Amino acid sequence: MLPTIDWQGDVIVMVDQRKLPAEEIYVRCHTAQEVARAIRTMVIRGAPAIGVAAAMGIALGLRRSTAKGTRQFAVEFQKICEMMGATRPTAVNLFWAIARMKRAFSEGALAGESPEELAGRLEREARAIHDEDVANCRSMGGFGAEVLPDGARVLTHCNAGALATAGYGSALGVIRAAVEQGKQIAVFADETRPFLQGARLTAWELVRDGINTTVITESMAGPLMRAGEIDVVIVGADRIAANGDTANKIGTYTVAVLAHEHKLPFYVAAPLSTIDLATPDGDHIPIEERDQREITHLRTWRLTPVGAKTRNPAFDVTPHRYIAGIITERGIFTPPYSESLPRAFDTIAPASAPPALPPSRRFGGTNRRGEPSI
Ligand code: MRU
Repeated sequence: MLPTIDWQGDVIVMVDQRKLPAEEIYVRCHTAQEVARAIRTMVIRGAPAIGVAAAMGIALGLRRSTAKGTRQFAVEFQKICEMMGATRPTAVNLFWAIARMKRAFSEGALAGESPEELAGRLEREARAIHDEDVANCRSMGGFGAEVLPDGARVLTHCNAGALATAGYGSALGVIRAAVEQGKQIAVFADETRPFLQGARLTAWELVRDGINTTVITESMAGPLMRAGEIDVVIVGADRIAANGDTANKIGTYTVAVLAHEHKLPFYVAAPLSTIDLATPDGDHIPIEERDQREITHLRTWRLTPVGAKTRNPAFDVTPHRYIAGIITERGIFTPPYSESLPRAFDTIAPASAPPALPPSRRFGGTNRRGEPSI
């Protein structure tokens, strides 16, 4: 499996996603500060992956603590959590992972654990978050593969693959699962300006797995749909609001509108840690504005004239009405999402692996007449 992030002894090791595919370089983080910098500067990116990195970074920071007692240890813990929370604002998995680490800390503190014991507990929790994310991706793949018929030509945007998770991927996990079932799947990867996650990362992963991959620029998606060359769209997510509105990489909204115009199903694949029931709708999702240099330059090469203004919102929101289904580790949820999504959390036992469910679980809401929507 692809080595997105790994805990090796005293260091957290990540493949440098800024350098792929030209170079496969590994960044070794020795401190929580280094992990926070790696998230901020996109060494590691993708919603579930940054949640995992933050959890590991918190545990690493506390493992190196020289705090004399539990009180000082708690102050350090709080500071490190704040630093992680300030790295990137849109992907809710980051805040979900920090909240989970805080819960683990509180449980240990209530049990009267020493700083060493608390540090051990935090490390176990971070490792569990990592391992559960891989298992969740596999589950999503199992459920989601049913929406990809044999011979499907699938468009995806950005990178929602092994590199964006602890392994296997969300949207790309669904594609991988369909391929593992023996289906012939052809993938169109949007290049995804300005960071080129599609051209560099999605294509790299899929080609490594021997999956039929064609890179296109964003502007080609519409004409290809019109020409009947795409059957289905599947993307990942950074935050899904309670009503199903979904924040994902900038350009996703455009793809969703195009899919709607061409009557193509548009699916989102994301773990429950991406669903934020506390955010009512997409208007309340904070959208990160990144460095203008990502637009004005390609590495060291200046693209735009000095004096031209630029904008660089890193994410957009796709209204729920364009989304045919949300594929999670607990099944596929369909509209109306304000009814179906809360049910995803109905039977969740906190901090434990989800129970295995039979394949092909679909959860719909009810229509206006109170009948199941599917
Ligand atoms: O800015 P990035 O590269 O972190 O944005 C990533 C995305 O938008 C992904 O599509 C999303 O996080 C889903 S990853 C499984």
